[in-house]
Amino acid sequence: MITLKQIIKPIEEEFATFEKEFEKRFQTDNIILQQIHQHILNKKGKLIRPILTLLSAKATGEINQKSILTAIAMEMLHTASLIHDDVVDETYERRGQESVNAIWNNKISILSGDYILSQALYTASETRDIRIIDEITKLGKEISKGEIQQITNMRNSIYDEKKYLEVIKMKTAALLSTCTKSGAITSEASEEECKAMQKYGEIYGICFQIRDDIFDYTSSEKEIGKPVGNDIREGKITLPLIYALNNCTEKERENIIDLIKTKKDKEESIQKITQFAIEKGGIKYAEEKMKKYKEEAVKIIEIIKKQDIKKSLEDLIQHVIERKN
Ligand code: IPE
Ligand code: IPE
Ligand code: MG
Ligand code: MG
Repeated sequence: MITLKQIIKPIEEEFATFEKEFEKRFQTDNIILQQIHQHILNKKGKLIRPILTLLSAKATGEINQKSILTAIAMEMLHTASLIHDDVVDETYERRGQESVNAIWNNKISILSGDYILSQALYTASETRDIRIIDEITKLGKEISKGEIQQITNMRNSIYDEKKYLEVIKMKTAALLSTCTKSGAITSEASEEECKAMQKYGEIYGICFQIRDDIFDYTSSEKEIGKPVGNDIREGKITLPLIYALNNCTEKERENIIDLIKTKKDKEESIQKITQFAIEKGGIKYAEEKMKKYKEEAVKIIEIIKKQDIKKSLEDLIQHVIERKN
């Protein structure tokens, strides 16, 4: 499998600049925030958002200071959303280390997440470009709406692929499509190029979340650095299980729904539900779905003239469907 290191080769130098500038923006004179920021910078994750932003900027022009600021704002917004997400999902491990809510507490997590989110927005404003500020500030609403809609679907026992797609478009793909669109804007791309990059980012984001949801069924905590089986534990029904529930007998469906609703926190039930999703072909279906999306994404980026960047974007979408963490 192609590595992210190989994929970012054409933007290596600019990426190093991003990393330096990103760390700088975590400086603070508050002791608790200093500790939290140190903890976060200790395990930085895959840095997919800045990779997408900078590749997109270079695909349609040159990476400049605005592109770097946008990449920083996007990764910071993502970081804040993860700190909040671990409170919401009641999970205590992130990137192979304890999450902020595990070491400190929910109160500190919400407040420090807010601090980082605000710093993200301030960084966006440093671009002094209203088009970028507009894209990034409206994003927070979309992510929150996605998270709330997910809870609504859970409460109303909605096991529907279309509804699932709506949620993941909001909670995950919106962030990634904002990366690619804003990246293109920073290099003064044409309207057509901006639209293409936005669409590419959205498809990438959908695949990204489908893959993340598959991990919850098939991976190990050690591999992905966060808990597995947790989606079912908290009643979050994702694509593999949605497919299985819609492709089984009425009796099987009733049984599984009963398990989800009543005994979902028992490890044995989680095992059974997981097994059911796998046996009914839910994982295979989700993987096929990603492949179809990938083909669409590859077509969209045909308009990119720079061959090396186009290749990186093709590799990146292949990477997202094959990735192991
Ligand atoms: C995790 O994102 C949140 C989802 C959208 C599934 P990543 O898997 O990109 O997290 P890091 O930044 O690499 O840890
Ligand atoms: C991630 O959803 C979406 C956001 C962070 C907004 P998940 O809850 O599936 O992400 P992980 O699995 O905890 O990283
Ligand atoms: Mg979560
Ligand atoms: Mg997840």
